[in-house]
Amino acid sequence: MSHYSKVKSVTMQGLKAIEILVEVDLDKKAILQDVDIVGLGDTVIKESKKRIKSALKNSGFSFPNGRITVNLAPSDVKKEGSYLDLPIAVGILKANGIINSSTDNYIFFGELGLDGSVRKIRGVLPVLLQLSGKHAAAVKFILPTENTHEASTVEGIEIYTVKDIRELVLMLNGDIQKSPLSYVEPTFEATDSEDFSDIKGQEFAKRAAEIAAAGGHNLLLRGSPGCGKTMLARRMPGILPSFTLEEAMETTIIYSVAGLLNGKGLVTKRPFRAPHHTASTTSIIGGGSDAKPGEISLAHNGILFMDEFPEFRRDVLEALRQPLEDGEVTISRAKISATYPARFMLVAAQNPCPCGWYGDKTHECTCSWHEIKRYNKKTSGPIEDRIDIFVDMPRLEFSEYSSVKSGESTKTIRERVERARKRQNLRLKKYKIFSNSQLNHRQLEEIVDLDSEGKKLLEAAVDKLKLTGRSIDKILKVALTISDIEEEKHVFPRHLAEAIQYRKRELSF
Ligand SMILES: Nc1ncnc2c1ncn2[C@@H]1O[C@H](COP(=O)(O)OP(=O)(O)O)[C@@H](O)[C@H]1O
Ligand SMILES: [Mg+2]
Repeated sequence: MSHYSKVKSVTMQGLKAIEILVEVDLDKKAILQDVDIVGLGDTVIKESKKRIKSALKNSGFSFPNGRITVNLAPSDVKKEGSYLDLPIAVGILKANGIINSSTDNYIFFGELGLDGSVRKIRGVLPVLLQLSGKHAAAVKFILPTENTHEASTVEGIEIYTVKDIRELVLMLNGDIQKSPLSYVEPTFEATDSEDFSDIKGQEFAKRAAEIAAAGGHNLLLRGSPGCGKTMLARRMPGILPSFTLEEAMETTIIYSVAGLLNGKGLVTKRPFRAPHHTASTTSIIGGGSDAKPGEISLAHNGILFMDEFPEFRRDVLEALRQPLEDGEVTISRAKISATYPARFMLVAAQNPCPCGWYGDKTHECTCSWHEIKRYNKKTSGPIEDRIDIFVDMPRLEFSEYSSVKSGESTKTIRERVERARKRQNLRLKKYKIFSNSQLNHRQLEEIVDLDSEGKKLLEAAVDKLKLTGRSIDKILKVALTISDIEEEKHVFPRHLAEAIQYRKRELSF
């Protein structure tokens, strides 16, 4: 009797799914009882041994006597995570004759609990999306029950979920019938409890937020504590163009790999991520032993909010440069290299000075001139070069705060943003970019054709404000976005004049 079995599974490298073959050889005559797992398993897989043993025993299956050799092929692929618990257990049960039917058409992945339960795993969605195209209807997937919602969003493949190893054995042996998951068409949450109309006053900052959203410009908000920076930033995902199903899938895949879906099927709102300023480079950029996505990828298609911007670690700010440029990030670890999308809008916020009260009418600032200067210099340089719009937010006057007049709704603003984006898409298609913020100097020269009055205005601004080439480009980009919002054919002087107000300003003393 053959004590050999093979079972199909899958492992992840970043967002890439790689098919794995688990071979099990059971030598019942060996005197020494042992389990050997070969083929480049990481430490998690070595621990699998113990989990599988307990899981099988506690499910009422006898663990075979003798020597078990498990081979994970191909051997040159590093296998990550605990996905392979379930296929290895199935392989052992098959080699031992407990599962007595063919499993050739199945792909298994799932982690085992000591009690034999099949536990939720991360990264189910990208695996299914990639393998579904490849196998079409030829293969059946076996997944943990806890991954049901996520798995139901994938169409056109046969997926079964199991809650524990007993249920799986009964199913495979034909002792119980299970039906495959039905596809659930993803739906979007239509309502958002946080609306722009909640924000009183702050017309200048709200306008800046709209322009930033319309042109994909990164934004820095500066103001004293309580002036509404966080309030404004939190509402920004809502005014970005509507989340498309394709974008929602892209973002959901990242949450799936990060293990952050929490039983949900689809991320239905543009993400808003607000890492603390003490966060490590790994947590923001991604990495760690399993090359997990970081905050910048979790913010993909949404907003990355960096509050207390000058307090972030220097190396974090440095590491943000490349992803801000490329819209993706590559993380390299010993044997794996993972590339994740990271196309987010950066909204940074800071106080005007270390104590927070510089320029405030109600509090006295206790900082020295030198401290204020140094604090504001901290973020200058590479990252600030990627920020097009700078806004100083005053504290709200009591009369404004107590006014009952409500501002424009998120929906109204988003509709203007969407129209402005459509114009950009048409114009920028030939450059293979999709928002004005991505324009380079040469492209800007091609697109923006100032009249003589506009040229004069810009020249005067360059002279008076000592603008560098880079800040001139930023002003032109922002002016172009303003003309897009107003659906104008050209960039007119009034667009330029408004754009000039959003340049970075030194505080005056
Ligand atoms: N413009 C505003 N309109 C309405 N409420 C405001 C406004 N600005 C601040 N607030 C109130 O003050 C609170 C603190 O604002 P917050 O956004 O946290 O300030 P900051 O981040 O600038 O320190 C908000 O939760 C809100 O209740
Ligand atoms: Mg705040």
